[in-house]
Amino acid sequence: MAGIKIIGTGKYVPETVSTNEDFTKIVDTSDEWITQRTGIKTRHMSDGEPSWYMGMKAGAQAIESAGLSPDDIDMVICTSVTGDYYTPATANIVQGKLNIHHAFSIDINCACAGFVYALDMARRYLSVGEDVQNILIVSPENITKLVDYTDRSTCVLFGDGAGAAVVTRSEGFYHSYLETDGSGADKIYAQSARPGNAFTNREKAESFKELFPQGKEHYMYMAGNDVYRFATTKMPEALEKACAKAGFTPADLDIIIPHQANARIITTAAKNLKLPMEKFYVNIEHYGNISSACIPICLHELREAGRLHSGDKVGLVGFGAGLIFGACVFEY
Ligand code: COA
Repeated sequence: MAGIKIIGTGKYVPETVSTNEDFTKIVDTSDEWITQRTGIKTRHMSDGEPSWYMGMKAGAQAIESAGLSPDDIDMVICTSVTGDYYTPATANIVQGKLNIHHAFSIDINCACAGFVYALDMARRYLSVGEDVQNILIVSPENITKLVDYTDRSTCVLFGDGAGAAVVTRSEGFYHSYLETDGSGADKIYAQSARPGNAFTNREKAESFKELFPQGKEHYMYMAGNDVYRFATTKMPEALEKACAKAGFTPADLDIIIPHQANARIITTAAKNLKLPMEKFYVNIEHYGNISSACIPICLHELREAGRLHSGDKVGLVGFGAGLIFGACVFEY
């Protein structure tokens, strides 16, 4: 199977920025605690921009930076877990707003690992036949609408924004390792509307117990310590397995872009892999965790800074609700 080439990237973040100091006014916390335990200083937070809007902005920039026009795009994959509607797919709305004609669009829900999973899916579409040449991946997230701002252990972690990339086929290598563990689905979740209609038997409905009983309304519940342990073991494992398929080790990668959930998770993963932190790109200080938008925003910043060179060995590694994790390594 062929590899992939990232030929364009884009990013959009809302104007409003919240600092750690701002959080001390709404919950019992401190700049010192947040900085030491998470590495986060500020986050961009939606001023009401819907996810489709952020995806459209980042997507337009990605198409332009690829030197393409919207009609060169054959497929749109959107990775948002915070779509604006149950239906239609956010990918469809973004496609329409960007005036991309003759393409098909798909939403995937792979939580914070969404971009890694979308890239892997894109590569498989690109590898089969000639009908798909250029794929736009958009990763817009309005995570803060799922955040309970009375829960100090989660509210300080998240921000909003979008990343995007245009991907095409290449002859370079590409390998991945993806895995999910559904038995950990209760470790991070946010509930949708409960079942019910005009004819629902209320008594019977009550007999269906909550699958995950700890949640509060539609807000995100997270077992922070369990997720921390999961992330620090599974990130190294995914990277090692993807590299092994490519015939090298993570030490051979030029740059590793990890999901940005907590700076301490990245430091511990680096230690477990016996790698220096210089190999890892980290921007969590400015954005917090923006779920699936983190990795494409990092990619965009690295490209803009001229830090990615043709032939570089790049590793992407994500994890998140599901529980889900995965890594891909490819020649840039
Ligand atoms: N400010 C001050 N104190 C806080 C706090 C905050 N914002 N949040 C939690 N605390 C307190 C706790 O209440 C606890 O107090 P106690 O000892 O009196 O009970 C203490 O700090 C330690 O809590 P703990 O949960 O053990 O802290 P931690 O060092 O594990 O950090 C997380 C908590 C959430 C930052 C960390 O577990 C984490 O990052 N987990 C992974 C989350 C993640 O990656 N989620 C997204 C996945 S995509």
